[in-house]
Amino acid sequence: DDWWLVLPAAGMGRRMGADQPKQHLKVDQRTLVEVTLSRFIGLPGLKGAVLALAPNDELTPKLLASFSAFPLHFTAGGATRSDSVLAALNYLSGQLAVDWQHWVLVHDAARPCVRPADVHKLLEAVRGSNAGGLLAVPVRDTLKQADERNRVSMTVPRDGVFHALTPQAFRLGALADAMDRAHQDGVTLTDESSAMEHVGMKPLLVKGHADNLKITHPDDLPLARLILQAQSA
Ligand code: C5P
Repeated sequence: DDWWLVLPAAGMGRRMGADQPKQHLKVDQRTLVEVTLSRFIGLPGLKGAVLALAPNDELTPKLLASFSAFPLHFTAGGATRSDSVLAALNYLSGQLAVDWQHWVLVHDAARPCVRPADVHKLLEAVRGSNAGGLLAVPVRDTLKQADERNRVSMTVPRDGVFHALTPQAFRLGALADAMDRAHQDGVTLTDESSAMEHVGMKPLLVKGHADNLKITHPDDLPLARLILQAQSA
């Protein structure tokens, strides 16, 4: 099946403490957003990508000129991650007139270590479904619920509990409708699956790898470099 990639890359990366947005930080010779995009290029069925960028971001389109053979589109992101994703979905259905039945994979620009084999696995797993799915990994650590003074109030059972990762795969129309509904209902979304859940769908959890980390703090960058080296060895 044909599919499109949506990369929300409009975050300010304030937690990075750097003087530039994190998508501009270097992972190897390339920036974070370039490395992340390169993980997807060449996968079967990929028609193109829409990047949601901060409206004042002039650097990213220049950097990505290196992907000139690939159908790459840009749109202005919003105040929150889900605003940015919604802007990209509107671009796909509006400017690009992509069919509402097409698959869209939403992937954090800040996750450069995603394995192409896991993306493939996700696409195969959701094929033929309407609810879509997401990469996830079972929680490994023991979970504690804190009280208001950070004392343990209980141990949370972790059986069947997963960390939600990206990419997350949904049909364009179903996801756009679900996100619109969630926004109207005032639901805060930290991923796309939550929007589908809000409208009663049950996306499939597809086991990925814990090394698909999200670059959040400066300490994460050297770790990402090591992971990428280990993966290519
Ligand atoms: O801030 P966080 O780490 O949750 O961001 C996850 C992804 O969402 C990042 O790739 C970031 O650039 C993107 N994002 C966005 N628009 C926002 C906030 C975050 O596209 N307003």
